[in-house]
Order: sequence, then structure tokens, then C-alpha cells
Amino acid sequence: MNPIQEILLSEEQISTRVAELGAQISQDYQGKDLVLVGILKGAICFFSDLIRKVSIPINVDFMAVSSYGSSYQTSGAVRILKDLDLPIEGRHVLIVEDIVDTGLTLNYLKNNLLSRNPASLKVCALLDKPDRRQVDERADYLGFTIPDEFVVGYGIDYAEQYRSLPYVAILSPSAYQDS
Ligand code: IMP
Ligand code: MG
Repeated sequence: MNPIQEILLSEEQISTRVAELGAQISQDYQGKDLVLVGILKGAICFFSDLIRKVSIPINVDFMAVSSYGSSYQTSGAVRILKDLDLPIEGRHVLIVEDIVDTGLTLNYLKNNLLSRNPASLKVCALLDKPDRRQVDERADYLGFTIPDEFVVGYGIDYAEQYRSLPYVAILSPSAYQDS
């Protein structure tokens, strides 16, 4: 059975929006010492496309946190699986995330990075699912607001599958019903 119920965001829609975000970030951080922090693994596609649309000099770094594991329900518990390689004290930091859903992951990440005294800390997220928010968090730069549906593709997984799809799609309920 086709695991994809519906393509929500096409490659073209995504690339147009990513270019706009890159241009906005380049303008806002002109002349500043900027580190883009990609959150593994979900942000891989968004991150690699976005940095190529940022026209000012930047550094990149990565963190990996556990959120969903292999199921589709959030546990609420966040754990650092991989920390930054570089210190961020005194630097401008932009977190690049795939989805803000309950907001718990972002809330944890922001508090964690703020304790390292960056010059500033903002968030760029590809997707926002505001219907599911549990804590008051939002992205400063946002690609798209989407309905409360489980999505995959463009880096985003279900049980480590579907990350390599070039678009964002709603996963058919039959694809995860039995797990
Ligand atoms: P939050 O802590 O609930 O905001 O969860 C954010 C994380 O949950 C995202 O970075 C994703 O990894 C994951 N997530 C949330 N919604 C989806 C979805 O629709 N598909 C796949 N992963 C999701
Ligand atoms: Mg994630």
C-alpha cells in the first residue's frame, strides 16, 4: 500500500520558501558572528539547503537530541545524544529545526543553549504544528504552518524511514497503525 497519503509541500514550494528565509537571515545577521546549529537528524535537508541560501559568512554546528525515538508519540523527555563541537559564548546562534510540535524539544534546547551565554539565540524551523503546542515556544523564522498531521520527507522520518523523500508528505495512517 502507498505509505504517502498526500504531498503537503512540493520541492518547488520548499525551495522557494527556503530561499526567502536565507535572504531574510542574511539581511538580519549582516556583519554578525553567526553560528547555524542544525538539529539532527530531521533538519538535515532543510539545513543543507538553507545554508546555501545564506549569503553572509557563517559557521555550522550540530546537535542531536532524542524526541520521538521510533514511535510517533512524543515522550516529553529530551536527551542530548550529540552536543555542539564549538563554544557559542558571545556568538549569535540560530537553531535550525525541522518541526515545532509540542514545543518541548525547542524549549529544552533554548534553555540549554542560553545557559552558555550566546550573544543572541533565535530559531528557524521548517514546519510549525501550532495545534499541538504544550509550551509557549515559536520559531523566529518559519517555513510553513501545517495542520496537525504526521508528516515525513525532506529529512523528517517515521521510525527512521522516509527521510530521503524530496517533498513533505502526510503519512498514511496505515503506515504506522500496527507499530
Ligand atoms: P516537539 O518536542 O513535540 O516540539 O517535537 C519536535 C520533534 O518531534 C521534531 O523535531 C520532530 O523530530 C518530531 N516530530 C514532530 N512532529 C512530527 C511529524 O509530523 N513527523 C515526524 N516527526 C515529527
Ligand atoms: Mg527532530
